[in-house]
Amino acid sequence: MKPIIIANWKMNPQSSKEANKLFEDIEKEIKDIKKAEIVICPPFVFLPSFTNIKKGAQDVFLEKGGAFTGEVSPLMLKDLGCEYVIVGHSERRKYFGETDEIINKKIKAALENNLTPIFCVGETKKEKEENRTEEVLKREIKGGLKGLGSFEVTLAYEPIWAIGTGNACEVKTAAKMRGIIKDILEESFGKGVSKTPILYGGSVNSKNAAGYIKEAGFQGLLVGGASLDAKEFGKIVESVV
Ligand code: PGA
Repeated sequence: MKPIIIANWKMNPQSSKEANKLFEDIEKEIKDIKKAEIVICPPFVFLPSFTNIKKGAQDVFLEKGGAFTGEVSPLMLKDLGCEYVIVGHSERRKYFGETDEIINKKIKAALENNLTPIFCVGETKKEKEENRTEEVLKREIKGGLKGLGSFEVTLAYEPIWAIGTGNACEVKTAAKMRGIIKDILEESFGKGVSKTPILYGGSVNSKNAAGYIKEAGFQGLLVGGASLDAKEFGKIVESVV
């Protein structure tokens, strides 16, 4: 299976001119790379500009349409050519009050509309210090995937203390966490889920990227800050193929 490298631009950049430039620069950096599945997740407003690289959204609403001011439906994302959507990112959980229940509905809405959810889970620094990581992951995974019949989900382990801090998770620890997540998936949903791709995210850069794929066994990466620098993003992709 090809490694899946997802660029999460978050709420950047601030103009379509910059977004187009970044997109073109990334396209140049990755044009000869065939051995990775590369997906760009820009803010909603920049989604229509992109054509040549696979794209995803950073969030989705749980209904197909109607009176939900400010929201974006899975049908709209599909219409714009999205294949993926990030669901349950820790910033959505923290700043927008997204619960496991809401995330579960969003995952279902994405799947029903043929979008692959990139379902994010991970513990805070405090939870880690209190040795509650496994308990948190169990709650998030079981809650987020509750009642699902199909497993066209990509999971992303993103320890919150590692996001945007430069303090990436050690490869050895990440490998252990990957094993724990796999066990939780199998224990909850049976062996059939063992093919669910598990990605790592949290301060990924061109120096640490390869370790997560080649040593820790992750099937891909979710890259935030470093995906806003086309050259660095290109190096990350090159290092894992
Ligand atoms: P980061 O963000 O790479 O900037 O740490 C990752 C993410 O939030 O998905």
